[in-house]
Formats: sequence, structure tokens, C-alpha cells
Amino acid sequence: MKLTSFFQIGLAQVLVIALGCGLLVSSQAWPIVLPQTQPQTLPQTQAVPMSNTRQVELIRLVRQDCGSCHGLTLKGGLGPALLPDSLRDVPVENLLAVILHGRPGTAMPAWKRFLSEEEARWIVAQLQKGFPHEKP
Ligand code: HEC
Repeated sequence: MKLTSFFQIGLAQVLVIALGCGLLVSSQAWPIVLPQTQPQTLPQTQAVPMSNTRQVELIRLVRQDCGSCHGLTLKGGLGPALLPDSLRDVPVENLLAVILHGRPGTAMPAWKRFLSEEEARWIVAQLQKGFPHEKP
């Protein structure tokens, strides 16, 4: 009789301890999982070269401001055409220099106050491919 009651108490204690351990483990699971997921999102946003909003702004700038001299379809006006056929054989560095520093003695202004070198490079690449149109 004494022996069985001892085992009954023992079993109840084991159950309480097991339940307590389970609660501890599950409550600790949160702080362990969170720090692993947070740092993973940072390098992904840094890998994007230029934001979509900035690209939309640059497309608008080229179509409207550059277009006022180079033609709304970039086929030329006061300034020469900025179409793939006209720019294909011009070295990228020359085009970059003209855009950033302008061409003294001509109407072509410098854009370095408004454009970073990276942004001018992006514009040159788009011009040589065929410049994208503004989306309504
Ligand atoms: C006020 C008028 C004007 C505006 C605005 C203008 N340009 Fe020009 N651009 C010119 C003229 C004029 C030339 C030709 C200069 C020359 O005679 O060498 C030129 C030349 C260029 C050239 C050299 C082309 C070649 O074949 O060598 C590039 C590239 C160019 N512009 C890009 C741009 C871009 C990009 C913008 C807008 C960010 C822009 N231009 C805005 C007038 C303008």
C-alpha cells in the first residue's frame, strides 16, 4: 500500500515537471527564432542597385528636361538624337562626362548637381538600350 501511493505521487510530480519543461522550451523558442530572421532581410535591400521610385524620377527627368532640347522622342532637336543608333559607337565615359559636366560653349548644361555618377551611368545604359517610356 505504502509503495503504490509513493509511485502515484512520483508520477504526478513527473507530469508536473514535464509540463513545466514544455512550457519553458516553448516560451524560449521565440527569442531564439527572432534574431535569426531579422539580419537576413538587411543585405537583400542593400543589394538593390537603385530604388524603383528613383528610376521613375529619372525616366521623367530625361523624357521632360532632356527631351525639351533633345526632342520629346529623343530623336533630336536643339541637341542631337539620344537614340541607341546615335549613341552606340560613343564611349560610355564620353557620354557620362557630357551629362555630368555639360559641354562648355554649347547649350548642353551640366547635370552633376542633380545626378550622381551612378544615376548618370544608369541613364546612359538606358539610352543605349532604348530609353523606357513614362508610365501613366
Ligand atoms: C538646354 C538644352 C539641353 C538640355 C536640357 C539637355 N541637353 Fe544634352 N545636349 C544639348 C546640346 C546642344 C548638345 C550638343 C552639344 C555639342 O554641340 O557638342 C547636347 C549633347 C548631349 C550629349 C552628347 C551626345 C553625343 O552624341 O555626343 C548627351 C549624351 C546629352 N546631351 C545628354 C543629355 C541628357 C541625359 C540630358 C538630361 C539630363 C540633356 N542632355 C539635357 C542640349 C541640351
